[in-house]
Parts: sequence; C-alpha cells; structure tokens
Amino acid sequence: MNILIQVAYLIASVLFIIGIKMLGRTKDARNGNLVSAAGMLVAILATVAQVDAISLTDILICVVIGSAIGLYTAGKVEMTQMPEMVALFNGFGGMASLTVAMSDFWLNTQVNGFQVGPIIGTSAILSIFIGGLTFTGSMIAFLKLNGKISGGSVMFKGQHMINLLLLIAAIVVGVFGMMNQDQPLYFFILIGIALLLGILTVIPIGGADMPVVISLLNSYSGMAACTTGFVLNNNVLIVSGALVGASGIILTQIMCKAMNRSLMNVLLGGFGQTASVAGGDGPEITVKEVGVEEAAMLFDSASSVIVVPGYGMAVAQAQHVIRELSEQCEKRGIDFRFAIHPVAGRMPGHMNVLLAEANISYDKLIEMDEINDDFANTDLVFVVGANDVVNPAARTNPQSPIFGMPILNADKARTVIVSKRSMGKGYAGIENELFGYDNCLMLFGDAKQTITKVVSELKEM
Ligand code: TAP
Repeated sequence: MNILIQVAYLIASVLFIIGIKMLGRTKDARNGNLVSAAGMLVAILATVAQVDAISLTDILICVVIGSAIGLYTAGKVEMTQMPEMVALFNGFGGMASLTVAMSDFWLNTQVNGFQVGPIIGTSAILSIFIGGLTFTGSMIAFLKLNGKISGGSVMFKGQHMINLLLLIAAIVVGVFGMMNQDQPLYFFILIGIALLLGILTVIPIGGADMPVVISLLNSYSGMAACTTGFVLNNNVLIVSGALVGASGIILTQIMCKAMNRSLMNVLLGGFGQTASVAGGDGPEITVKEVGVEEAAMLFDSASSVIVVPGYGMAVAQAQHVIRELSEQCEKRGIDFRFAIHPVAGRMPGHMNVLLAEANISYDKLIEMDEINDDFANTDLVFVVGANDVVNPAARTNPQSPIFGMPILNADKARTVIVSKRSMGKGYAGIENELFGYDNCLMLFGDAKQTITKVVSELKEM
C-alpha cells in the first residue's frame, strides 16, 4: 500500500510539473490547468487512502464544503478582482500550513511527550512562522486591493527597524522553542510575532504594488507548504510547495525587472507618492486632440495598426469593442496586432486574459521584445488606457522614476492615437511627454465609449 501511495505521489508531482510547463504557452494554458488539477486529485486520493485518524465521511463532508465555497467564489469573481482572490487563497494556504504543522508538533511534543529531531522541529517552526506571516500579510493585501484599507505610507517612524527586530525575535524564540519542546508558550509567541510581522510588512506598501507583494506571498505560502511536507513526511507536499515557492519568486523577479525596480524598493513602499511629486515639476505638455470621426478616418486609411492596451482598457472594459474595431480593420485588409507589455495593467497577464475573454486570437498578441522593432514601420498605433508602458521618459530621462524600464516603442510609429479620459497620470504618477509629440493625437473620453463611436463611424464608411 505504501509503495502505491508513493507512486501516486510521484504521478501527481509529474502532472504538476507538466501542468506548469503548459501554462507557459497561452493556447495550452487551460489544458495545463486541467493537468495540474488532475495531479491534485491523484494527490488527494492517495492522501485520503492513508488517513485513519478521521472517517471517510468526515473527509468527504470537508471536501464538499470546501469545493462548494471554491466553486461559488471562483464563479462569482470578476476578472479585475482576480488578484484579491489569489491574495485570499494565499492567506488560507499559509494558515493551513501553520495549523497543520502546529497540530502535528503538538501531538508529538505535548500529547505523546516526544522530542522531535532538528529537521522536523526546524520545519515546524518555519511552517508556523512563514504560514502566519503569509496569512496576515495576504489579508492586508486583500483589504488594500478592495479599497477597505488605503494608503501606502509607513505607519510610524522606525517601522522598518521594528520589523527587523521582530524578525530577530522570531529566530530567537524559535531556537528557544526547539530547545524546550515541552513549553508550548514559545510557539504561541512565535505565532503572535509572525501574525504581527505579516501586518507590519505589507501595510506600508502602496496598493498598486500589491500584485508584486501577492506574488511574493504566493511564494511564501508555497514555502510554508513545503516545510509542512517535511513535518508530515509527505513527499507530494514537499514537491508541490517547492514548485509554488519557486514559481512565485520567479514571477516576482519578472515583475520587478519589467518595472525596473528592485524587490527591496517595492517592499519599502511609497513608490507612487514620491513619483507623483517628481512628475509635477515637469514642463507643461501641449497636446493635439482628435475627434471620433477623424480617428475613424485614420484607421480607414492605415495599412498597419498596433493596439497598445493598458490598465485603462481594463477599467473601461473596452476589450469587446476593441475586437469589433479589429474586425472592421481586418475587413479592410489592415494588418491589426496587439503589443503586450509584461507589466501593462495591474497583474501578470492582465491584458492577455482580457483580450482572450473578448475572443481575440492569441496569435494577434505579440510580446514586447518581438514587436518593438515593428513600430517604426507602422502607420497607426492606438494606445488604449496605457500610459507608463509607452512613456519615452523611461529611455530619455535619467531623473524619471521609470528610467531604465523597457517600454513599447509606440512613439516611433507614423501616427499615435491615445485613448484616455483626461491628462491623468498612470501608476508611476508622472507626466508622459509622448502626449505632446508631433505625431501624437489625444482621443479623450472613456475608452469603451469613444471606441464604440469610432467603430460606428467605420461601419458607416
Ligand atoms: P498606467 O500607466 O497605470 O495608465 C493607465 C491610464 O489609463 C491612466 O493614465 C488613465 O488616464 C487611463 N484610464 C483610466 N481609466 C480609463 C478609462 N475608463 N478609459 C480610458 N483610459 C482610462 O497603465 P499601464 O500603461 O498599463 O502601466 C501599468 C503600470 O502599472 C506600470 O507602471 C507598471 O509598472 C504598474 N504595475 C503593473 C503590474 C502588473 S503585474 N501588470 C503590477 C504592479 C504595478 P486617465 O485617468 O486620464 O483616463
């Protein structure tokens, strides 16, 4: 029986790895998800087969309740609320690791009166600490994303120093806990420090930096699960926790690199506020406006169009009307593509998900590195609710907070039309000199409303 269970765990681990690999290509991503889910089913069945402490009925009741809540919330959640849901799930994952590791440790040391060895003891301490920190950190991230908690400033002077002292205190308490395993008080203190540290580290970070923080917390929840795997001597938990931990940290790195910021800079918080002060001092930008009729004529006469979608497209929910625009252009034989910046929007893959939801074919979505050289030969670039990802200051102004961030070369096209509501700034809080360029025209108004009008004009032409 034990061999069968280990084989099942091996199969589950392989399915997780294949599933993650498939997520790398947009067209295979859905199937990749299914493959990973199948792996999870195998892992759950193998685990249930070896449980004898509680009855199968009790397990089934828990599975049904958990699945019902999961299905209901995942079905109800809006695409724009996805980061909030991931934050919640990370937090629950952290709490699960904490409670499972704690209960196993309690059973060994308090109920059965054993002393656990250094590997299991250290793993339990890490699970409790990382799991607790992940739980409260994720809850704060969730509350920030849905606007229940605002602000991105440090709560009190010396907060970062206090966080450092708390981290040192956690290490000291953990070591004492290991040396005095019959004294549960140390573990309760450790839980308290972890929960407090989760709140204090996430609360100073600006709401818009939350996707990076959530990706990091996702990695923490994986690490907590991995260390809990050592406590329980459960191989599939070790493997799956390590996969989540590693992929979360890789994603965090990718996001930081695409924003040209260090992880420390994100974690120390306050990015948006300082930037907006810096941006306010820039020279006045004079812009040229374009009306919907003229914009439609520019589309009609173009032979190549690149759309640069950004956060404003998500706010306006303009993706469906952009598909109609693409249909109008393709009917006229216009080469119509989308340029996708790695951090456009507010979460990884934000634009890909929205455009896929509007049934825009994957092969029309071109990554930044592949399309950047094509802008110079493009008749018309249509920037829809994007701002920072096309800001030439990233190339030209060493004083700019986004200097060095790779951007889409929209400014190099023959004509650029920018759809946004006003001269409002983007996430980085700075002016965009592109809007004042000779080849740039501003199409002011909510993206969905103005593009709808452009499409109607095109239909009449
Ligand atoms: P942003 O620079 O944030 O600009 C969005 C623009 O959309 C704003 O200037 C706004 O101008 C416009 N807008 C808002 N609502 C609109 C509507 N209803 N219709 C039309 N326009 C609307 O967006 P971006 O270019 O996508 O850049 C993303 C930024 O987020 C980057 O700085 C990136 O570093 C940061 N970030 C990204 C991520 C990920 S993972 N994607 C995570 C954290 C941070 P108006 O107010 O004038 O309309």
